[in-house]
Amino acid sequence: MKIVLSGIQPTNMITIGNYLGALRNIINFQKDNKLMIFIADLHAITKDFNPKELQQNKKSIAALYMACGLNPYDNIIFYQSDVIEHSHLSYLLLCHTYMGELNRMTQFKDKSSKMAMANGTQNIPTGLFVYPTLMAADILLYDADIVPVGKDQTQHMELTRDIAIRFNKKYKEDIFKVPNIYVAEKGAKIMDLQNPDIKMSKSNENTKGTIFLLEPIDNIRKKIMSAKTDSFDNVKYDQTNQPGVSNLIIIYSCLSNKSINDIELLYKNKKYGDFKKDLADIVCNHIKELQDKYYEIIKNVDFDKQLQKNAQICQKIAAKKIDKIHKILGLKVGN
Ligand code: AMP
Ligand code: TRP
Repeated sequence: MKIVLSGIQPTNMITIGNYLGALRNIINFQKDNKLMIFIADLHAITKDFNPKELQQNKKSIAALYMACGLNPYDNIIFYQSDVIEHSHLSYLLLCHTYMGELNRMTQFKDKSSKMAMANGTQNIPTGLFVYPTLMAADILLYDADIVPVGKDQTQHMELTRDIAIRFNKKYKEDIFKVPNIYVAEKGAKIMDLQNPDIKMSKSNENTKGTIFLLEPIDNIRKKIMSAKTDSFDNVKYDQTNQPGVSNLIIIYSCLSNKSINDIELLYKNKKYGDFKKDLADIVCNHIKELQDKYYEIIKNVDFDKQLQKNAQICQKIAAKKIDKIHKILGLKVGN
């Protein structure tokens, strides 16, 4: 069985982009593989955060995973900070990562550029800069075979692979498994509903363009009905000339069993209004079902114990790996 590993940052503002690009694909892997899913709380503190909210959001994400269909008994779901080996390995990897590599990360450039303070100065936490090595540690610690992520994480994944290869070469041993990246064919980059030139994100200023999984269903319907399209009134997948409607077609296709082609045919002589109405029904029904499950789970399941038990299993695997690396690096004296 292959190890499929992924993490998501704890915020209760999970979007339909996170869901279609990452969450849902991860869950689909559980049929034939062993899943290791963690709530990336250490990543969440690389920018400004509120400790109380963080604590609540951790639980919320765990419940969301379960609402999406993750079986917490056959797979391992845990909180990242319960296994301190993640941050330790991150340090060891940092010593094998170049400043130039981290400087090139577009996510860092993006996120740090948004951190300008009112007085024009910038205080960028170093943790944000070194974040990709923590992500590499999360993955390499467990010899993950496959890492499903959205498109925006592929650069971090390439870096993870480079670090693993570099390490193995330098110490002439297969210390780390070089992980494969999995990016979904459809839905790996859901765009903002109001500005289809930018990625849908929790942090986009105009929240009218973002669908949050836990927001009231009526809001979601309104957001879809007022999504920006174009004046062609022709339901056609054409990223260049009709980015808005193309994005809606992708969402439709991901949540129905219809291909892009099927959808184009179905709405051939129809108006955008009809298409949007059907899409709103599909999205709202799907999310409503998720929300119902979520609220049921968050009320009834005693997560923390189960997740802590899982962390203990991970901790044993991680400690063994760290021990092996310490030996190879000459950090360990004796046996
Ligand atoms: P983040 O919100 O940055 O913590 O992302 C969590 C996961 O969702 C990552 O695998 C991202 O690549 C994925 N993701 C985030 N936004 C989108 C989006 N708009 N479309 C598809 N996938 C996304
Ligand atoms: N960096 C990812 C994000 O922002 C979350 C993440 C942290 C992750 N560690 C990971 C994803 C390891 C996959 C594997 O979305």
